[in-house]
Amino acid sequence: MKKLTALILALVLALSMTCAALADTLTMCTNASFPPYEFVDGDKVVGIDAEIAAAVAAKLGYDLEIMDIEFSACIPALVSGKANFCMAGMTVTEERKQSVDFSDSYATGVQVVIVKEDSAIATVDDLFAEGAKHVVGVQESTTGDIYVTGDIEEAGLGTVNRYQNGNDAVMALLAGKVDCVVIDNEPAKAYVAANAGLKILDTEYIVEEYAAAFPKGSDLLEKFNTALAELKADGTLDAIVAKYINTGDAE
Ligand code: ARG
Repeated sequence: MKKLTALILALVLALSMTCAALADTLTMCTNASFPPYEFVDGDKVVGIDAEIAAAVAAKLGYDLEIMDIEFSACIPALVSGKANFCMAGMTVTEERKQSVDFSDSYATGVQVVIVKEDSAIATVDDLFAEGAKHVVGVQESTTGDIYVTGDIEEAGLGTVNRYQNGNDAVMALLAGKVDCVVIDNEPAKAYVAANAGLKILDTEYIVEEYAAAFPKGSDLLEKFNTALAELKADGTLDAIVAKYINTGDAE
């Protein structure tokens, strides 16, 4: 009799574990201060990344939970297993590949420079000119931070002020604490649209690829790529992007 009870218990346990696995939740981490890829609307994280992630999760039969943390905490959250993947307009870099695996790319990003409308900085090259002494604002740990740290700070061509998020960097620019902000083009457009007196320099700094990041060796990666390819092929991805970015001729 005891044996039977144990068997039934084991069966019930096994069954409940299977059910839990079927309705499993995927946790995505991001830094929701990066419109139009991710930003907070009410109490929800919305944006291109949030919607692509939700579409992929739905295709794979998972619920999606979004964890809004600092950008610099995203890779550590993957490494420590606190999140299953990260979508944060994250650029694929060789250095990051040492700690995480990247999905196929789903978007292109460009590092651009935001200045005040009356700024003496006219092109990206002005930042690297001999004798230049600018104060450059960036979002900590982003590729913008990494590039200007090398090209400007370490080259003795100015200083870099690092902020917790892009919005703080833009606020510092408005307050005159930095001469410019180096950041990705789409958030740059959103910040410039939301704050009077700013403009984006015409010249581009660096062109990059965005991808989702996973803990190294994650078995979710391949399924994610398959779902992403399907969403690209059936037009879902374009439709999501078009919802947030004006890609029409009118631009
Ligand atoms: N593309 C840049 C990078 O990967 C900036 C990304 C910032 N993303 C964010 N959600 N705050 O470093």
